[in-house]
Amino acid sequence: MTAPAALNRDEMEAFWMPFTANRQFKANPRLLAKAEGMHYWTPDGRQILDAVAGLWCVNAGHGRREISEAVSKQIATMEYAPPFQMGHPTAFQLANDVAGWLPKDMGHVFFTNSGSESVDTALKIALAYHRARGEASRTRFIGRERGYHGVGFGGISVGGMVNNRKWFGSMLPGVDHLPHTHDLAKNAYTRGVPEHGASLADELERIVSLHDASNIAAVIVEPVAGSTGVLIPPKGYLERLRSICTRHGILLIFDEVITGFGRLGSPFGTSFFGVQPDMITMAKGLTNGAVPMGAVAASDQIYDAFMQGPEGAIELFHGYTYSAHPVACAAGIATQEIYRREGLLTRANDMAGYWADGVHSLKGLPHVIDLRNLGLIGAVELDPLPGKPGLRGYNAFVRAFEQGLLLRVTGDIIAMSPPLIIEKQHIDQVFGILGAVLKELG
Ligand SMILES: Cc1ncc(COP(=O)(O)O)c(C=O)c1O
Repeated sequence: MTAPAALNRDEMEAFWMPFTANRQFKANPRLLAKAEGMHYWTPDGRQILDAVAGLWCVNAGHGRREISEAVSKQIATMEYAPPFQMGHPTAFQLANDVAGWLPKDMGHVFFTNSGSESVDTALKIALAYHRARGEASRTRFIGRERGYHGVGFGGISVGGMVNNRKWFGSMLPGVDHLPHTHDLAKNAYTRGVPEHGASLADELERIVSLHDASNIAAVIVEPVAGSTGVLIPPKGYLERLRSICTRHGILLIFDEVITGFGRLGSPFGTSFFGVQPDMITMAKGLTNGAVPMGAVAASDQIYDAFMQGPEGAIELFHGYTYSAHPVACAAGIATQEIYRREGLLTRANDMAGYWADGVHSLKGLPHVIDLRNLGLIGAVELDPLPGKPGLRGYNAFVRAFEQGLLLRVTGDIIAMSPPLIIEKQHIDQVFGILGAVLKELG
């Protein structure tokens, strides 16, 4: 059965769309029907250049045959296998592939089905780790303002995006938030890592002295905050967080759902910044977005703390029916093979200079108050329309789509994170279209 090229309003009511203004969308829908390489196509055949890798996930570009073939072969061979007290070879292979991108002593991979599940899994592992070591009082978490860690109760509790939190009650108890690091007054128009703000990490010391380290389980941050509008960590900031956590026996979790799999020009943010956390959460680029899947990588120290006691005892009472789903694993293995063969996880390095030039070519255009970039991430911050925060960003997003360019907006910040296969001519197109859109924007 093929999907209809256009839908009437009634046909759109059944699907309650996520993170979408449903009534506005259904009155004027934007539909995608096909994808290949750097592009989507609408049902009526209009080509759209993808400047966001779908939603930060299609890192190897769209329509990769190796992935679809691996998926169909796996479905035909064994569509499902239970992951509890049973295994299948593809799960072990993918775990090894993922571990191959990570620091040597971070090679224990727990599979989930999304970034949100990865975050909640990492938080639970942190609690259980401390308990297993006889420090059960370590139950508090520390997140960061403007952080995004998905939409589970754990993730919204440690996250810091107000709209994602304010509707949903009291969430997890015992959570504090570090200040965010976005400082336009000092760092506007920075190319790469901003100069000012490392000392914001010292706020962690204040929170530790308030609660005492013996009550704190973990700190979780995104190395580069993506969903909140691309906040790049100041020089030295992540190193400081690491050293404070180490000093106090607090676990450091990097949420690499966006920075994982080559976004910055290194396989993961940990290698890019040279700062090693105790756990890494990932999803998105793990399967090139083809099949839902996430994972948590844990250090030897964490894994070994669980591998104690009687051999027949289950060490971690956690997992999902679809943990290490064979079809997702097949997609993941094919994806890692593409990354290796094409050197995609370091390709952002080669393109980063040209990309940065494109981002900063928008300086001086109407309403632009900041431009920032790192690896193959870019952001354009717009001055909000008075009394209507988010409207100018939304208008830019809609006009760009009409002009054949897919962007992502958070409020009045435009974020870009193209597939890592992007070529210079695509970069020229992205900033050509976006520049024209900004010139006409009210
Ligand atoms: C840093 C980070 N963590 C978690 C998530 C949640 O991932 P998912 O939407 O797959 O649950 C996202 C999604 O954008 C993310 O950027």
